[in-house]
Amino acid sequence: MRQSTSFHVAIVMDGNGRWATRRGLPRAAGHRAGAEAVRRAVEIAPGCGISALTLYAFSSDNWTRPAAEVSVLMRLFARYLRKETAELAEKGVKLTVIGRRDRLPRSLLDAITAAEQGTARGTKLELRIAVDYSARAAIQRGDLLPDVDLLIRTGGEQRLSDFLLWECAYAELWFTDRMWPDFGAAHLAAAVHEFHSRDRRFGGLPTREAV
Ligand code: FPP
Repeated sequence: MRQSTSFHVAIVMDGNGRWATRRGLPRAAGHRAGAEAVRRAVEIAPGCGISALTLYAFSSDNWTRPAAEVSVLMRLFARYLRKETAELAEKGVKLTVIGRRDRLPRSLLDAITAAEQGTARGTKLELRIAVDYSARAAIQRGDLLPDVDLLIRTGGEQRLSDFLLWECAYAELWFTDRMWPDFGAAHLAAAVHEFHSRDRRFGGLPTREAV
């Protein structure tokens, strides 16, 4: 069986819009609540044994959303980076942003540069935020990440939506109907707990049958 010292979890954070609509709130409120859920997940990830966390924040296909929603998201990403950088650095988190940069607004690019520089020395958790990301495009360019061990998707859908297609070749998949803003420490811990109960065979035989 393959042994690995790192534990790479990737999350498709789906359901912000429905979370807000169900409460009679604008979708932007769902995205703001989603940012809080990001904060919580990052905070508890190291305690769950996670050494790398990759979050799908904005896919290259999300540009088809109304301009107003795109703009809310871009400002929210920039605000998150500006607000969190100091604390992330203090906690040993190394943050990088993956995906295309040439279509991002200047203010977000500046926030990304500052956050990446400010957290460059982190060794406890590698946090990657995927913005304007397409796995197919990344594969074509040849920029690949380490294998994903556990892929979580909230919001009830059960698909990859062009996220880490190559890296998820042997990922364990974990889906929940819970909307992303309602995803908390207990849910991440439950997903990790179930992951550890799975028999990962990588094409081989179950551990107990190996000779
Ligand atoms: C999918 O839910 C979510 C997104 C497209 C945006 C993800 C953004 C966040 C979680 C906000 C903050 C992120 C960071 C990194 C600070 P949806 O809008 O498609 O929801 P729906 O399927 O219910 O409409």
